[in-house]
Amino acid sequence: MQTQLLIDGEWRDGSESARFDVENPATEDVIASVAAGTTEDATAACEAAAQAQVAWAATAPRERGEILRRTWQLMIDHTDELARLITLEHGKPLADARGEIAYAAEFFRWNSEEAVRIHGSLGTAPSGANRIVVHHPPVGVVVIVTPWNFPAAMITRKLAPALAAGNAAVIKPPRETPLTALRIGELLHEAGLPAGVVNIVPTMSSGAWFDAAVDHPATRMVSFTGSTEVGIVLLKRSADRVLKTVMELGGNAPFIVFDDADIEAAVQGAMVAKMRHSAETCTAANRFFVHAAVADDFTRMFAAAMSDIRIGNGFDDGVTCGPMINAKAVASINELVTAAADHGATIATGGGAVDGPGHFYPPTVLGNVRSGDDITRHEIFGPVAPVITFEDTDQVIADANDTEMGLTGYVFTRDLRRGLAVSERIQAGMIGLNRGAVSDPAAPFGGMKQSGLGREGAGEGIYEFCETQYIATDW
Ligand code: SIN
Repeated sequence: MQTQLLIDGEWRDGSESARFDVENPATEDVIASVAAGTTEDATAACEAAAQAQVAWAATAPRERGEILRRTWQLMIDHTDELARLITLEHGKPLADARGEIAYAAEFFRWNSEEAVRIHGSLGTAPSGANRIVVHHPPVGVVVIVTPWNFPAAMITRKLAPALAAGNAAVIKPPRETPLTALRIGELLHEAGLPAGVVNIVPTMSSGAWFDAAVDHPATRMVSFTGSTEVGIVLLKRSADRVLKTVMELGGNAPFIVFDDADIEAAVQGAMVAKMRHSAETCTAANRFFVHAAVADDFTRMFAAAMSDIRIGNGFDDGVTCGPMINAKAVASINELVTAAADHGATIATGGGAVDGPGHFYPPTVLGNVRSGDDITRHEIFGPVAPVITFEDTDQVIADANDTEMGLTGYVFTRDLRRGLAVSERIQAGMIGLNRGAVSDPAAPFGGMKQSGLGREGAGEGIYEFCETQYIATDW
């Protein structure tokens, strides 16, 4: 298992030789000790990236694409090994970890195809005096900062388009789950990536690390996935150097079930939208608005499905929900549920923390919640589903939009015309219409309002990592 920093194609200890422990959140056992990067290491990584980027940008797009394609293949060939690493450091069930590897690897395959399709344009100036040539060179050095909930996919979703476009990267993987990131670094080199194009520097001092990376003169862009709170801090800091940014931030997704919905399908969709990857996703349904005519049936069936979930160590057979990432996460979920119950919410199933070892919280469904209650104002990031009843369509849309977040929304109805009309009125970057999952490397992932800036994946994802240059010429 690789536990050193990757800088300029070499594995090395940090400049201060410090290390930090990585824990399995299901057992609280220490599973590895990883080299802790310092500000000097962040600077050295930016230096290496700046040196390597020029030659990388000059390689043929096909050659870059082929390296990405080989990385996809290597990740697929190593699915079991990578999935075990994810389950070890994150805790999610092995089946979900395998699913994450397929998802994460697909960003390399998708962008291996996009690498050869970065198109510009040619036009004639309205005056007829000259031509307007537009093309898209790479940005340069990109700093990538990712969260622990998808130890592989949150990195590859940024890294693959960045590399395809001809950039070099400096990655700060999450402190909680650095091992998968380091293994992907090894696979990239096995696939033929030149030294210095990707640098991976775990750290214990995120703030100082980020300052050093942003202040390096070669750094031109920051791509971050994480909370809105941290995103705002990084945006302000990036503004000091007028860096380009892509921000995938928090969510507070409404999940709306109309009275004409197929209730069984809505419950299945709710299970996916809430519980995918142990309920620790920013796309997770956070507020369930259910029409009064079907609320009792929906809540009963949803609570039954939630109580059938087996929580436990992701390596154990039959487990479908792993631990939360740490004790703080369990405490904050429990606090939200306790406060909601104190304010009149009923507990249809679950509630209450589970004894350790491990950081577990039981799948929980809350009834009798009102829109605007405290729990509807927080991103829960755990297996808790507050159900709110509604009768009026305009009111439910207003309530769904009554948040600064706008990442995802879900709508269930048998009437496609109504479904599309309501979807268009929800202020969110991604809508699941009669579907509980929206994430797809071939679709533009990203949020409106304080859920983020820019899009990842699809055709547009790669252009986030490009500049636009226009050449006025008269031939
Ligand atoms: C996230 O939770 O940040 C991403 C979820 C996804 O890609 O589905």
